[in-house]
Amino acid sequence: MELPFAESYKIKVVESIRRSTREERENWIREAQYNLFQLKSDQIFIDLLTDSGTGAMSDIQWGGIMTGDESYAGASSYYKLKDAITDITGFPYFLPTHQGRAAENVLFSALIKEGDVIPGNSHFDTTKGHIEFRSAVAVDCTIDEAFDTTLSHPFKGNVDLGKLEDVLKKSGDKVPFIILTLTNNSAGGQPVSLENMHQVRKLADIYNKPVLFDSARFAENAYFIKIREPVYQDQSIREIVEEIFSCADMMTMSCKKDAIASMGGFIAMRDPELFRQCSMFNIMFEGYITYGGMSGRDMNAVAQGLYEGIDFDYLETRIKQVEYLGNRLLDFNIPLQQPIGGHAIFIDAKRFFPHIPKEEFPAQTLAIQLYLEAGVRGVEIGTLLADRDPVTRENRFPVLDMMRLAVPRRVYTNNHMDVVAVGLKNVFDRREEIKSGLRITREAPIMRHFTVELEPA
Ligand code: F0G
Repeated sequence: MELPFAESYKIKVVESIRRSTREERENWIREAQYNLFQLKSDQIFIDLLTDSGTGAMSDIQWGGIMTGDESYAGASSYYKLKDAITDITGFPYFLPTHQGRAAENVLFSALIKEGDVIPGNSHFDTTKGHIEFRSAVAVDCTIDEAFDTTLSHPFKGNVDLGKLEDVLKKSGDKVPFIILTLTNNSAGGQPVSLENMHQVRKLADIYNKPVLFDSARFAENAYFIKIREPVYQDQSIREIVEEIFSCADMMTMSCKKDAIASMGGFIAMRDPELFRQCSMFNIMFEGYITYGGMSGRDMNAVAQGLYEGIDFDYLETRIKQVEYLGNRLLDFNIPLQQPIGGHAIFIDAKRFFPHIPKEEFPAQTLAIQLYLEAGVRGVEIGTLLADRDPVTRENRFPVLDMMRLAVPRRVYTNNHMDVVAVGLKNVFDRREEIKSGLRITREAPIMRHFTVELEPA
């Protein structure tokens, strides 16, 4: 008999979590104004809000926490991180920041001005926020296949080269850089192929534009390249990662994802002049250039986590767990983005609740129902997240209205995944009894989903 698949690690430390009753959850969610961000963590049994900063660090990472060098300038932990980044990505220059969006803030301060246009594959919400905050425009050039959750395509994160070239032709002089997000989070944790990266690079060279990779989940992207892009099947993750970054001029990183750390981020680049410009903003916004918002212990944990994050056995364990949850849901005929993504399952709320109008936030309604049913917290990646148009102030209704179930790295077992799957099945079985959604009672002008207050419609 073939031996079954099992995790590539064992568990050394545990943290208790508590089941609650439906009645308790009904009270808590009302007090939280139907916003899952407003819940307290002990009101949640299984927390799939995000895979960001929620991973379990390894024994070696925790060892690094004890040996962090907290010197203000020139700490050995800084050099350890710098060596790891250059070794893995090939970028000679780097600036530490406290997390990914801080890296965006620093880099964009140097690169983006009012009226600019930044094309890419579905910009993440903080990326888009930092672009729009500077009165610039983010243009989504993702391939159309990504917006139909029933279509299977191995690289739904890809850029449509025709759409990208249109932007470069029409507003070329206003484009400071092209951005690729690896993996494409907003489209469902969907990877970008290396073929597509090379094609984007070629186009960027023709139009003389730098290329930025938002690399939060670059290692998961590399895993999919190995598994799904036949010419790379015999290459190691290390080799694939090297080729990925050879297509970019600079990267921003949230170390809370594929570096499996609780906190941290960075910018890395090839151009020394850009490094000098960014250094000034880094010192103003983040901290001196050898810590930039991270403590020495954080930098040690990140340096080690970057290597663990590109380990094939770890990646296989991780992505197979997400796939396990996805396959259980598919067995229950629950509509979700296919193929299954790297860090999360994205439930297609329009197909789950076809009778709930988009103005009543079907994906948020689904996330609330799942919480009530099973104490599981997901997150809306849909209309609430999309914010209002900055000019017209009208709600933006994205093509996809999804509930994301993001799986933290090395945290939950497949028994937990079973609870999530059955919880969602129970909601699916009584979906017709859930007749209406939610309405907003209060919202912030930008990134409203964090603080929005809602009530049943
Ligand atoms: N880019 C991508 C693709 C992201 O997914 C995130 C964060 C960021 C940038 C910003 O990084 O959080 O360290 O400031 N995504 C988290 C999520 C929050 O839940 O998907 P950060």
